[in-house]
Amino acid sequence: MTNAGPFIAFEGGDGAGKSTQVRLLAAAFEEVGREVVVTRQPGGTALGTQIRGLVLHGDHMSPRAEALLFAADKAQHVDEVIRPALARGAVVITDRYTDSSIAYQGAGRDLGADEVAQIQHWSVGGLFPDLTVLIDIDAAEGRRRREGTHDRLEAEADDYHEAVRSHFLALAGADPSRYLVIDGTLAPGDIHLRVHQACTVAGWLPL
Ligand code: TYD
Repeated sequence: MTNAGPFIAFEGGDGAGKSTQVRLLAAAFEEVGREVVVTRQPGGTALGTQIRGLVLHGDHMSPRAEALLFAADKAQHVDEVIRPALARGAVVITDRYTDSSIAYQGAGRDLGADEVAQIQHWSVGGLFPDLTVLIDIDAAEGRRRREGTHDRLEAEADDYHEAVRSHFLALAGADPSRYLVIDGTLAPGDIHLRVHQACTVAGWLPL
């Protein structure tokens, strides 16, 4: 492990229930006296908040412009929030990270996932999470759960969200030691138990 953290990312489709899990895991680390920095992308910095407004609520934008805006958000985020937190020994838990871009901008957006991955890795200066928790739900279930909310990406059709899901699963499958894939239809408490257990096995949380 190269970071002081750990640095843990939650990934998954819209409506997967990441935010709840981020909260539960943060509380578990805080309970054992750790400083926890919780953050989300896009957003999480002043510049990131402006970028968030552009990419989620703006008009149509070119796929490359979209990919670069998400990358700029991450670059700022890593420099301003994540690296300083890890450097002072905090646990960092992020709601989405580079895989979201690889999955969303790489899926059905005319860009190859490999190209997007290269841009993302450059933008975060090669800082990867120690663990990525992928909460997996299918497109129809995601749509059902986010009924009523429609940012620009959420409003995409189910086949786009299925492509996003396949990209996430492919990333996890290619590097199983750094991923924990959990069925997002499980109860939130059960999902948390699995995440907690993985952190215990890794030595980050006591038994
Ligand atoms: P998120 O903050 O999880 O949404 P919300 O706060 O509405 O629950 O993510 C917003 C959207 O941005 C989501 O549809 C996924 C998308 N996204 C990308 O397309 N690329 C990225 O790099 C990131 C971080 C998010």
